[in-house]
Amino acid sequence: MAEVIVLDSPEDAGRFVAAHIAAQVRREPTFTLGVATGSTPLPVYEALRAESAAGTDFSRMTAFALDEYVGLPAGHVESYRSVVDREVTEPLGLDAARVHVPDGSLDGIETAGERYEAALDAHGGVDLQLLGIGRTGHLGFNEPGSSFGSLTRVKTLTERTRIDNARFFDSLDDVPIHCVTQGLGTILRARHLVLLAFGAGKAEALAAAVEGPVSASMPGSAIQLHQRVTVVIDREAAASLEYRDYYRWAQDHKPQWQGI
Ligand code: GLP
Repeated sequence: MAEVIVLDSPEDAGRFVAAHIAAQVRREPTFTLGVATGSTPLPVYEALRAESAAGTDFSRMTAFALDEYVGLPAGHVESYRSVVDREVTEPLGLDAARVHVPDGSLDGIETAGERYEAALDAHGGVDLQLLGIGRTGHLGFNEPGSSFGSLTRVKTLTERTRIDNARFFDSLDDVPIHCVTQGLGTILRARHLVLLAFGAGKAEALAAAVEGPVSASMPGSAIQLHQRVTVVIDREAAASLEYRDYYRWAQDHKPQWQGI
């Protein structure tokens, strides 16, 4: 079962997760972080910048992004490559050669998935994968119906996801229809999954992912198949969890020696 940690605010959650990542990096500077995009992981990145300012050296870390839009012009400000560079690569001083994002350019898109899988395999996978969850229950861009065995490939976004993400673009028409995303099978190979969710708008999808039936109709439920999952959420996102009192109890009685 996932460990569920309910904190007071996204900022507290960001500091909590960043402190764990920074401790791992101090222990193993070549740590590999799986980075997510969207608004959810931003408090973690902000807190990682504070860890960097306080002296943790992230320069030898490797990063792999979950997904990318297909067909955005190179350097588009809302491409996930640009977001990762802006939020992670540059402020944390990572070597750009060690920051991997699926290639969403139209030229060669047919092989983008297998090239990304090959890069992940050659590197030896991801130590800790940050995840948000979409309101459709998607992880990365694995929309409902995605196979739990799926690998990185081109997917078609749902209208719900395009509408949700239209806030980052000038209009809905500007939101790409296709993406390249790590598959659920790819995500499940990461050695530790950290799923974040904040706000009432995520409560239903979060509860379905953590406690609902394991089903391709709820891609987030794939986390139930992983041996090491930490769910870090605020009170609003925890509102629909049936066993939240137990999660609180477990936190209050957590053995001191246990990390996340
Ligand atoms: C995005 C990303 C996901 C993210 C999700 C939720 O489109 N592809 O990785 O977790 O949708 O987004 P947000 O965090 O902005 O709510």
